[in-house]
Amino acid sequence: MALLETRNLTKEFGGLQALQGVDIEIAQGELVSLIGPNGAGKSTLINVITGMLDSTDGQISYAGTDLVGLDPYEITQLGIGRSFQTASIFPGLTVRENVEIASFATEHGSFSVNFFRRRDSYGEVQDRATELLDTIGLDDEADTAATELPYGDKRRLEVAIGLATDPELMFMDEPTAGMSPQETDMTVELIRDLLDEWDMTIVLVEHDMDVVFDVSDRVFTLHRGQIIAKGTPTEIRDDPAVREAYLGGESE
Ligand SMILES: Nc1ncnc2c1ncn2[C@@H]1O[C@H](COP(=O)(O)OP(=O)(O)OP(=O)(O)O)[C@@H](O)[C@H]1O
Ligand SMILES: [Mg+2]
Repeated sequence: MALLETRNLTKEFGGLQALQGVDIEIAQGELVSLIGPNGAGKSTLINVITGMLDSTDGQISYAGTDLVGLDPYEITQLGIGRSFQTASIFPGLTVRENVEIASFATEHGSFSVNFFRRRDSYGEVQDRATELLDTIGLDDEADTAATELPYGDKRRLEVAIGLATDPELMFMDEPTAGMSPQETDMTVELIRDLLDEWDMTIVLVEHDMDVVFDVSDRVFTLHRGQIIAKGTPTEIRDDPAVREAYLGGESE
C-alpha cells in the first residue's frame, strides 16, 4: 500500500488550473523528486497536501487517513513535515533555540496521533535538538545567533526545523536553491542520511538535475498542473514529453 496517495487532485486559483487531476502514489522509504518548469504546480501540490491550501477537488490519503479538510498542524502531527522557508527562523535566537522551539511546539500541539512520538520533558527536547544539529552538521554552531549563519547553513537549519516535528514523510521545496556547490553537496549528504539512517520518505522539489538524477528513486514531472511522466531517473531523462515540457517555451 502506498504511504501517500492522491486521486484526481485539483486546485484552481480563480480561472487558473494550478493542479489538474493529479494522481500520485509514494511508497514508504522512497525518495521521489518532483520536477517541472516554473509555474508547473510543484509548490502548489505540496501546499495542498500539507493543508496550507485547500484543494478544489480530489482525494489525499496518508497511511490510510484522509487528509482533505485537515488543518496543517493536524497533518504535521500525522507525521508529514516540510522544510520551511527562511521566514520561519527566529533570527534573534540561537541555532539550538530555533530547533528546540520547533520540537517543543510539536510536543505541545493540541493532540498527538502517535503518542510514541511524544517527548515529555525539556530534557528530551534538548536531546532531540542535539541529535538534529549533529545530523545537519550544525553542532559546532549551536550557540550562534541564527542570523549570523551563512546562507547554506540557514537553509540546513530550516531542514532541521522541519525535522524537529518528527516527520515520517518530508517535503523539501528547493532545499539547494541559491547554495554554493559545497553547500549543495552537504545538503545531498543530509538527504542521504535521512533516507538511510532515519528511514524517511522524502518528496523533493529540485531544479538541479544532477541532484535529482543522483538521489531519486523515482521522478514525477509536472507540466501545467498535470503529471506528464513518472519513472526512474533513467526513464525520465530519456522521456520526450519531459524534454518537450522543458524546451516548450516556458522559462526554466
Ligand atoms: N496563492 C496563489 N494564488 C494564485 N495563484 C497561485 C498561487 N500560488 C500559485 N499560483 C499559481 O499557480 C501556478 C503554479 O504555481 P506553483 O508555485 O505551484 O509552481 P511551481 O511549479 O512551484 O513553480 P516554481 O518552479 O517557479 O517554484 C502558477 O501559475 C502560479 O502563479
Ligand atoms: Mg515552487
